[in-house]
Amino acid sequence: MTTSRRTVITAAAAAGLAASAATTGTAHAKSGGDSAGSGGDSAGKGGAVKEHFGTLADGTDVDRWTIENGRTRLRVLSYGGIVQSLEIPDRHGRRANVSLGFDDLDSYVANSPYFGALIGRYGNRIARGTFTLDGKKYQLPINDGPNSLHGGDKGFDKHVWSVEAFRKGADVGLTLRRVSPDGEMGYPGTLTVRVDYTLTAEGDFRIDYEATTDKATVVNLTNHTYYNLAGEGSGSIYNHRLEIAAARYTPVDKTLIPTGELARVAGTPFDFRRTKEIGRDIREAHQQVLYGQGIDHNFVLDKGITSRPEHFLTVTEPESGRVMRIATTEPGAQFYTGNFLTGTFAGTSGKVYRQGDAFALETQHFPDSPNQPSFPSTVLRPGQTYRSTTVHSFSTR
Ligand code: BGC
Repeated sequence: MTTSRRTVITAAAAAGLAASAATTGTAHAKSGGDSAGSGGDSAGKGGAVKEHFGTLADGTDVDRWTIENGRTRLRVLSYGGIVQSLEIPDRHGRRANVSLGFDDLDSYVANSPYFGALIGRYGNRIARGTFTLDGKKYQLPINDGPNSLHGGDKGFDKHVWSVEAFRKGADVGLTLRRVSPDGEMGYPGTLTVRVDYTLTAEGDFRIDYEATTDKATVVNLTNHTYYNLAGEGSGSIYNHRLEIAAARYTPVDKTLIPTGELARVAGTPFDFRRTKEIGRDIREAHQQVLYGQGIDHNFVLDKGITSRPEHFLTVTEPESGRVMRIATTEPGAQFYTGNFLTGTFAGTSGKVYRQGDAFALETQHFPDSPNQPSFPSTVLRPGQTYRSTTVHSFSTR
C-alpha cells in the first residue's frame, strides 16, 4: 500500500473562519488500516485530516477524512460517504474501532455489503423494483432477488461525494454533497443531497440528511454502519444486550418485502421491549427468523415520526462496557444481525467476518413504502425539503 499525501485542514479554516488557529503540517499517513486507536493525527482536537485513500478504475481519487471530538474518532471516505471506522472508548478508556470495514478501496468496490455506506435514494427494498407515482410507473434496477435494494446496483454508496469539514461551536463535522441526476437508477427528479456527519463535544455521532428535488420522487436515506461494540473483527454480537422501544414490526414475505401488516412483537423473537441478548431467540424456528436467516426486519418505533430525534434504542456490550444509544426522527429502523456475512472476506483488522459478527441499525421509513399506502409516505415534491436526523450517543457502564 502506498504512503499517501496528507493535508491537515482545521475545521475552522475549512469553515472559512479565521485561519489563525490553524494547525498545519504533514504527517506520514499510515495506510488505511490505522483504525485501532493508534493515533498519529497531527491536526489535534477538532481538526479534520484529509488523506488520499485510493483511485477508482475511472481515475477518480478517493479521500479519507478523519475527525475527532470528545473520545470519538471517525473516519469517512468520499466514496459512498462510507464510515470506515468509528473509535470509541471502553470502560477503561481504551478505544477500539466498533464498525466493520476494509482498509483498501478495492475491497469496498468489489466486496462490500454496504459497510458504513450512505444509502440512497431508497434505503431497503422496493418490491419488484417498481412503483407508481402520480399515475406514472417507474422501474428501478433489480439487484436483490426479484426486488430493488438500497437504491439499485449503483446507489449512493458507490458514488464519490464532495466533502468539506466544518466546526460549529464545539461540534466538528463533515458535510457531504451530491447531486443525483434525474432518472438515476430509474428514480425521477434531480435530487440534491446534503449529509452532515457531526461529532459533538461529548463524542456523540450525529447524522443529518437533507434533500430537495425538481420533480416528485421518493426518498429514504440511511447509513449502513455495521456495529460490533466489542471491536470490529472480535467475533459475534449475540452477547450484546439490546432494548428497542417498538411494540410492532413489519413482517415480510420470503423475498423480505413487508406484507403490510404492523404485527405485535409480543411473544416473538422480535420483542426487545425489555433488554435481552441479541442472540437469545435468534435460533427460534419462527417463520420470520427463517426468512431473514436471523433478524433482518424493520421495527415500527413507538415514538413515530418526530421533528427532533427521539431515543428508541440502547445496546450494551458487557465485556467492554460500551453502550450505544440511538435517537432518530424516523418512524422505523431496520435491525439486521449480519446474517449474510458468510466468512468470504476479511475486514480492517484482517479477521474474517462471519454470520452474526455485527449488527446494523438503519433508521428509515418502512421498506417498500412507495407500494404500501398504509405506511408513512416517502414522497418528496418540488418545494419540500426532506430532512432526517439520527444521533448515536456513546457511554460506558
Ligand atoms: C438488508 C439486508 C441486506 C443488508 C446488506 C440490509 O439493510 O436488510 O437484507 O443483506 O442490508 O446488503
